[in-house]
Amino acid sequence: MKIGFIGLGIMGSRMAANLQKHDYSLVVFNRTRDKAEPLLDRGAALADSPPKLAQQVDVLFTMLAHPDAVEQAALGANGFLNHLRPNALWVDCSSVNPSFSQKMAAEAARGQIRFIDAPVTGSAPLAVDGKLTFWVGGDAADVDAIRPLLLCMGNKIVHVGGQGMGTSMKMVVNLLLGTGMAAFAEAMELGQGLGLSQKMLFDSLLSTPTVAPFLALKREKIEGGNYEAEFPLRWMQKDMHLASVSAYESGVALPLTNVTKEIYRLAMRGGHEPKDFSAIYEFAMGDDGKERTASP
Ligand SMILES: NC(=O)c1ccc[n+]([C@@H]2O[C@H](COP(=O)([O-])OP(=O)(O)OC[C@H]3O[C@@H](n4cnc5c(N)ncnc54)[C@H](OP(=O)(O)O)[C@@H]3O)[C@@H](O)[C@H]2O)c1
Repeated sequence: MKIGFIGLGIMGSRMAANLQKHDYSLVVFNRTRDKAEPLLDRGAALADSPPKLAQQVDVLFTMLAHPDAVEQAALGANGFLNHLRPNALWVDCSSVNPSFSQKMAAEAARGQIRFIDAPVTGSAPLAVDGKLTFWVGGDAADVDAIRPLLLCMGNKIVHVGGQGMGTSMKMVVNLLLGTGMAAFAEAMELGQGLGLSQKMLFDSLLSTPTVAPFLALKREKIEGGNYEAEFPLRWMQKDMHLASVSAYESGVALPLTNVTKEIYRLAMRGGHEPKDFSAIYEFAMGDDGKERTASP
């Protein structure tokens, strides 16, 4: 079976590497060619355009930044969708909104291409370890067909429902991640404003059920002031926006998410865009992100 992989950023590069480790034959494409080099060194083939990649593969994975990038890669002037062979499988792992997944599924069906949405939870370190969680939307038979491939990259595969249900679950998960991180930053700001040390707050809060477990994984970044991106803040803002779009489409109100989305946008404007999304802490604390002492 020949596998194509388009989108070799933080996540895609690591996911594709795990397919390679399991001896699958890979053809890859990335807008910025350099990012493909480590995979090419280990034997992957490079396609110089998405159509040339599509012509060769049975299964195509995409792991791209946002809906526009996916749409451009699939349906743009140099798009892959019209070049996949009938009955090929397109697995979109990008974090996109469910109505967009359903639109891509319909476009794929017109060319007799099978479509699965399979976004992931878990950042760069879990991607390296092959321990991602996949939230999968699609026909059961198609999901079964690609399960062995997903298990090279993840250790939890949840078949949520039909096309668009994987990305539906992803919207819900990232709403919790984005608002949870921002609420934690605000709570820490209050604590330090009241004279509690950062260490006291971390030690105390992380041992209570009041904070989400993922926040323990962000402690080192926050204490060290090193916000190198595992999950870029700009993509968290994008996910908050896509949750908001999905709420509009389904008649649901998300006041908290919409306010949080704008906080992330302000952080982007303040220069935190390429950093890890935990840099919302640095933004909340002021420019230096350093520990606060109580003062009016
Ligand atoms: N990082 C995480 O922890 C994490 C976890 C779960 C889900 N996700 C989701 O996974 C997806 C990828 O995230 P990432 O962290 O790997 O981001 P990333 O490192 O920024 O990679 C983004 C990828 O999309 C490509 N891209 C962006 N805009 C494009 C365009 N207009 N046309 C063609 N290609 C384009 C980039 O190509 P270039 O290399 O040329 O820029 C790169 O391959 C996103 O949807 C993100 O929300 C990320």
